[in-house]
Amino acid sequence: MKINILYFSGTGNTQYVANYLGEKLKEESHVVKIKSIDENPKVDEDIDLLIIGGPNYASNVPEKLLKWVNKNVPKKNSNAIVYCTSAGKVNAYGAESLAKKLTKKGYNIVGKDAYVMPRNFYFGKYSQNTNDEISQMLNETNEKLDILINRIKHNEYKFENIENNNVFKIDVFAKLFNLIAKTIGKSFSVDDTCIKCGKCIKNCPKKNIRYDKNKEIKFGNNCMACMRCIHNCPKNSINYNNKKYNQYNLNRYIKAN
Ligand SMILES: Cc1cc2nc3c(=O)[nH]c(=O)nc-3n(C[C@H](O)[C@H](O)[C@H](O)COP(=O)(O)O)c2cc1C
Ligand code: SF4
Ligand code: SF4
Repeated sequence: MKINILYFSGTGNTQYVANYLGEKLKEESHVVKIKSIDENPKVDEDIDLLIIGGPNYASNVPEKLLKWVNKNVPKKNSNAIVYCTSAGKVNAYGAESLAKKLTKKGYNIVGKDAYVMPRNFYFGKYSQNTNDEISQMLNETNEKLDILINRIKHNEYKFENIENNNVFKIDVFAKLFNLIAKTIGKSFSVDDTCIKCGKCIKNCPKKNIRYDKNKEIKFGNNCMACMRCIHNCPKNSINYNNKKYNQYNLNRYIKAN
């Protein structure tokens, strides 16, 4: 089969799922393209299966991904699988919202999954997952993905029970969350450990970070709260409400364990 796997990932969890699926499907001799929407990829015309994933932010995938799907995924009558990643099982409805968008475009949704992955947002009442918790989450996600790969192999699909019939409501919530995200972004600041490497500017998916005329890092009004900048700064120089947090880095965790 020819398969396209497309995703948005702020801090690597959704990318991990995309890569895991993609690499295993390649081993089954499928032709697989795996791309982040940051690269604005083209959906191939002759695909047999489209897989789209995103992180769950307060009950939906980011509005950026929903808009990208609306604009860039062509109408087509082929199979599609949608998924979201989230730090817990509650309100993980992003896949349902993606499913609705693709159904409208003519796709036949054969899989809808929510994968529990480490928390990348642990300000206030939330705390960072321990290494043991991360290890357990990755094991459980890998097991679920192996089951999905087997279903794809045998063309025998079965849905996870993550239905939420009120997709309209959660899509409105994604819009509202966009406003909340802008205020989260206004709480970021950079301290004097910054080495002015420009990585945060280059990688921000909303082009929300810039140097001012004194070459100091400044955050704009367009943050989507993806947490990419804070967790990937090589000096951990980005603070939230003037407080420094331990960074979350899945690749680093996998290499070290
Ligand atoms: C702004 C924001 C809001 C989030 N809201 C939720 C939530 O409501 N429920 C949840 O389980 N996880 C929530 N999370 C955690 C992420 O969904 C989870 O860590 C996800 O796997 C991150 O994926 P990524 O690394 O691909 O960006 C939130 C994360 C962020 C950054
Ligand atoms: S990534 Fe960190 S060190 Fe580099 S410019 Fe941004 S804040 Fe400074
Ligand atoms: S400023 Fe940081 S958290 Fe906000 S969109 Fe850019 S990278 Fe993501």
